[in-house]
Amino acid sequence: MVCHCISFINLKGGVGKTTTAVAVGEMLAQEHRKSVLVIDLDPQTNATVTLIKEERWAEMNRAGHTVAQLFYDKLNPHMPPSFQIEKAIVRNVSTINDGISHLELLPSSIQPIDIQEQLPLIAMSRNFMAKPLDVLKAALQPEIDRERWDYVLIDCPPSLGTVTKNGLRISTGYIIPTIPDILSTWGIYQIVDNIFGLAKDLERPISALGIVATKVHGNDLHRRVIADMRAVNSGSSLSPGLFLSRRCLTARFHKPSLFLAGLTSMQTSEHSKASMVVPTNLCEI
Ligand SMILES: Nc1ncnc2c1ncn2[C@@H]1O[C@H](COP(=O)(O)OP(=O)(O)OP(=O)(O)O)[C@@H](O)[C@H]1O
Ligand SMILES: [Mg+2]
Repeated sequence: MVCHCISFINLKGGVGKTTTAVAVGEMLAQEHRKSVLVIDLDPQTNATVTLIKEERWAEMNRAGHTVAQLFYDKLNPHMPPSFQIEKAIVRNVSTINDGISHLELLPSSIQPIDIQEQLPLIAMSRNFMAKPLDVLKAALQPEIDRERWDYVLIDCPPSLGTVTKNGLRISTGYIIPTIPDILSTWGIYQIVDNIFGLAKDLERPISALGIVATKVHGNDLHRRVIADMRAVNSGSSLSPGLFLSRRCLTARFHKPSLFLAGLTSMQTSEHSKASMVVPTNLCEI
């Protein structure tokens, strides 16, 4: 079994990264009976408080059972590390049905210091062997290797900083949720280009799995931007197996949605070649 690790990323805030990541996780676990881990890499902790109650988060946070603690441990090598992966993972999360079996969460934390800025310096703070991009991988890889999850879904902050790169470091692919307007789609090329560069450095593909158009209104601008994105994508020979399917997603959406039905049948295959990739599929929810 291969674990699909998928980052949900856009440089623009408020475009539906968290909502899409959480909804896809709930759908995969609830409807497709997949084992799913959602990692909240965003200090805004929105995915965390969507999936668990705030009181539970406060307990976890006090005990240092958050992904932020994993990074703090690296930033403070003179202190004994307190992050423990098993204690930090919350099982059976979601507000749907009081929790979904096989849906797990690695929560985030509001961070008093900017981990993104500090993390590149860890190798200078007595941590000479520590690589800033490898912190999350070092903690999670043993669990991924023992095939604990079918999917790891990573809710990224709206930046391409070191924390986001820690997520991409373990990702096999990425999805770009975007409102189909000019501002939200502005950074897409930069994201694709940047991740392509990272994948090249890592000498393995990080597949561009698709664009999810969110908050779609039938206005002229949205119609035009969607048409433009489709036109770009139709020229690509890369087709990673996502397709459009119209149906209700979960209780999160009140109206019928278009969603990523192809995720469960996705192969790891060579959809990402060692050439410049553009996101190939457009899905709407
Ligand atoms: N597909 C959608 N349809 C309608 N509303 C949506 C959709 N996706 C997200 N929203 C709404 O848009 C708002 C922002 O969504 P969300 O928090 O998921 O964005 P984000 O990209 O994760 O933001 P941030 O960059 O701040 O983390 C929320 O109020 C959410 O309910
Ligand atoms: Mg978010």
